[in-house]
Amino acid sequence: MGDRVLGIAMNGVTGRMGYRQHLTRSVLAIRDAGGVELPDGSRVIPEPVLVGRSERKLRDIAEKHGIERWTTDLDSVLSDDGVPVYFDAQITHAREAAVRSAIAAGRHIYVEKPTASTLDAALELAKLAEQAGVRNGVVQDKLFLPGLIKLRRLLDSGFFGKVLSIRGEFGYWVFEGDGQPAQRPSWNYRAEDGGGIVLDMFPHWHYVLEHLFGPVRTVTARTATHIPRRWDEHGEPYEATADDAAYGIFEVGDGIIAQINSSWSVRVDRDELVEFQVDGTHGSAVAGLRSCRVQHRSVTPKGVWDPDAADPVRYREDWSHVPDNGEFTNGFRAQWEDYLRHVVLGTPFHHDLLSGARGIQMAEAGLLSSRTGRTVELGEVSST
Ligand SMILES: NC(=O)c1ccc[n+]([C@@H]2O[C@H](COP(=O)([O-])OP(=O)(O)OC[C@H]3O[C@@H](n4cnc5c(N)ncnc54)[C@H](O)[C@@H]3O)[C@@H](O)[C@H]2O)c1
Repeated sequence: MGDRVLGIAMNGVTGRMGYRQHLTRSVLAIRDAGGVELPDGSRVIPEPVLVGRSERKLRDIAEKHGIERWTTDLDSVLSDDGVPVYFDAQITHAREAAVRSAIAAGRHIYVEKPTASTLDAALELAKLAEQAGVRNGVVQDKLFLPGLIKLRRLLDSGFFGKVLSIRGEFGYWVFEGDGQPAQRPSWNYRAEDGGGIVLDMFPHWHYVLEHLFGPVRTVTARTATHIPRRWDEHGEPYEATADDAAYGIFEVGDGIIAQINSSWSVRVDRDELVEFQVDGTHGSAVAGLRSCRVQHRSVTPKGVWDPDAADPVRYREDWSHVPDNGEFTNGFRAQWEDYLRHVVLGTPFHHDLLSGARGIQMAEAGLLSSRTGRTVELGEVSST
């Protein structure tokens, strides 16, 4: 097979994720590197067609990066058989309608998480994609990060013995927007615009837990809106109607208890903005985005509770680093490369719309648990 150019309609490229991670660091980086190599030595070269609402912004991006085509008319690009893939990194609320149109036009689908705003809508999209026979995928970038790749290595080597528990800590202080501008878009703090930390982060925690440790069986969560008033991109005050923190407990796989705190109202006293501590019978690890530290049972210091004396043990010094042992590509780009191979060759791709729907199922269960004070079981969902 000779080299082939694969047209990709990219919607939402004026946004943070769409522009930085997906357009410049993934699709353009792959294009400029000559494409993705296939097993027969040929290459698939992605060619973006920018889609969005603002002509001016699209034209600026296109000119800056040498992109030939852009449009504000989604239907026109979806009806073009020369553009077989539709990618969506729009604000969450805008995703469902656009993805429906793309599936109806027979396009392969790749979307940011969450795949839709509700479980019902997410399952419907998964079902429509399956019925139409289009390849489909959802961004699950954290699995492609060095820290979690190292954690996977540890799991695969049996380092932990039996995994007992996971403690995840995610978050940082997002400025309210009065004194200093907020570093996240204001829609994230309005429930009516698809905001909220549960809808944003639980889909991530779901695929991390599921891919590394097993199916998530139950959710117990408490959400909060710690900061009720914020200031938007125009300096105008608004009421924060969405949750900005969530404290969750998840039963995973074979009796593993995971506890994950997510908060945009917390100041960081960690090495990385997210860290997962995994404790097992034979060893423990603390994995972040990039690094992963371990302690084996054979070198575990003995902690003895004695509040009356200074503790002689320097606990944090008794951990060692898992080495890189290679170069890591940007996580978004690595997943794009897998997805492009999946589209042209049909190679397995585990991050499909149904898997994305399970992430939303966990988010909805978290919100329900917080409202009712109950533990919510996650039943099996399907796209049929
Ligand atoms: N994978 C990740 O780590 C990750 C991280 C952050 C956000 N996300 C997801 O990516 C998506 C985009 O998030 P973002 O932070 O880039 O947002 P953003 O506000 O920076 O960008 C939103 C994009 O959607 C477009 N848009 C379409 N309709 C809109 C409307 N009615 N109002 C506002 N914008 C509209 C905007 O023009 C822009 O291109 C969200 O679904 C979010 O959940 C994923």
